[in-house]
Amino acid sequence: MTEVRGNNLDPWYSHYAQRTAGLSASEVRALFAVASRPEVVSLAGGMPYVSALPEELVAGAAERAVRKHGPVALQYGSGQGTPRLREQILEVMALEGIRASADDVVVTTGSQHALELMSKLFLDPGDVVIAEGPSYVTALTVFRSFQAEVAHTAMDEHGMVPQALRDTIARLREEGRSIKLLYTIPSFQNPMGVTMPWERRMEVLEIARENGILVLEDNPYGLLYFDQAPPQAMRSIEEAGVVYLGTFSKTLAPGLRVGWAVAPHAIREKLVLANEAAVLSPSSFAQTLISEYLSTADWRGQIDTFRGVYRERRDAMLGALAEHLPGLSWTVPAGGFYVWLRLPAGLDAKAMLPRAVKELVAYTPGTAFYADGGGRDAMRLSFCYPEPDFIREGIRRLANVVSGELTLLGEFTKTGPLTLPAPAPDGVLPPSIG
Ligand SMILES: Cc1ncc(COP(=O)(O)O)c(C=O)c1O
Repeated sequence: MTEVRGNNLDPWYSHYAQRTAGLSASEVRALFAVASRPEVVSLAGGMPYVSALPEELVAGAAERAVRKHGPVALQYGSGQGTPRLREQILEVMALEGIRASADDVVVTTGSQHALELMSKLFLDPGDVVIAEGPSYVTALTVFRSFQAEVAHTAMDEHGMVPQALRDTIARLREEGRSIKLLYTIPSFQNPMGVTMPWERRMEVLEIARENGILVLEDNPYGLLYFDQAPPQAMRSIEEAGVVYLGTFSKTLAPGLRVGWAVAPHAIREKLVLANEAAVLSPSSFAQTLISEYLSTADWRGQIDTFRGVYRERRDAMLGALAEHLPGLSWTVPAGGFYVWLRLPAGLDAKAMLPRAVKELVAYTPGTAFYADGGGRDAMRLSFCYPEPDFIREGIRRLANVVSGELTLLGEFTKTGPLTLPAPAPDGVLPPSIG
């Protein structure tokens, strides 16, 4: 029998595949368990406010899925997704300017699974994915779990900076690296909340085209705008060089776990094979339920309702930040779920988190969104889930924590007590994220 070399905690320690090295639990996970206690205002998670979705709409769709379509809804299905839902997804995407055929769509178990399938298809150990810095934490985890390296490219308040992207590509090329994907969240980005204007989308696509890099456009929030729709999706401009990811998680409910990818023909065929290898077929029941919902409910009106809920919460957060932390800078999202807050020099969002949780407020430290240790001076604040009054109270508590930290820092550095910076003359500053 082969000898098993383990450690005290896990006898199978030496048996794991090398790629699992990238699968480490986040250091702040334990704290988040505490942060889910009801007395803590959590501005940390990205949970949609599903209570704004009338139960009877979903219950009716679920009942019809079973009673009317039971033999399909309760059976295995196609690895590409049901033809009916793929047709309906075309209507959803048309709202963002995307024209495609149902044949180009692959239904997945949330867009998270599409990220996993794309990584499986394209990433070998040592390959590079270029991603915005900061970027969606669980995409970074997926890329790393395929032993790829994430190279961040700089953003400003209008998203990815084209010249920085050119420089990043040139540097990686000089180092002889193989760049496989350019991962971007162009609308209401997670975690910064910023949106790429139309001209930048065109420019970024042009750079990707010139350099032969496939763009992975992840768009869970595009329909959740507060006033004006964001520019149309990048996939509406370019078909051959873009794989587009969509999801019902934010416009309907994440518990259904249904998302999709739209890909050029050859990639789409491979995605279907990879999907079958992973799950045989995405949930027939969830797909049928969604098809029933889309064909009977006022789903556009429901998206409007969600927009109203999130707009009110965004306003509550921005108002409280202006009141309690007026000297700091933050992004002003025009949609989605997130604000990105920069801390005064010398403060460390990750080190501060245990103290914040003690003061009954939680956030996600900026470091979670960087593969390279960046982001210590920033945090992501989510306004999607707590009621507006809780958001205001959360920001008030956060301001106490920040000023407590400044006092401490002043004592340690012997500069005397430090105070919150004075407000900038024009109020909110755009962040300059490097
Ligand atoms: C940018 C981004 N991509 C993908 C996902 C995953 O979404 P889904 O529920 O469709 O798997 C999320 C979820 O928060 C997200 O923010």
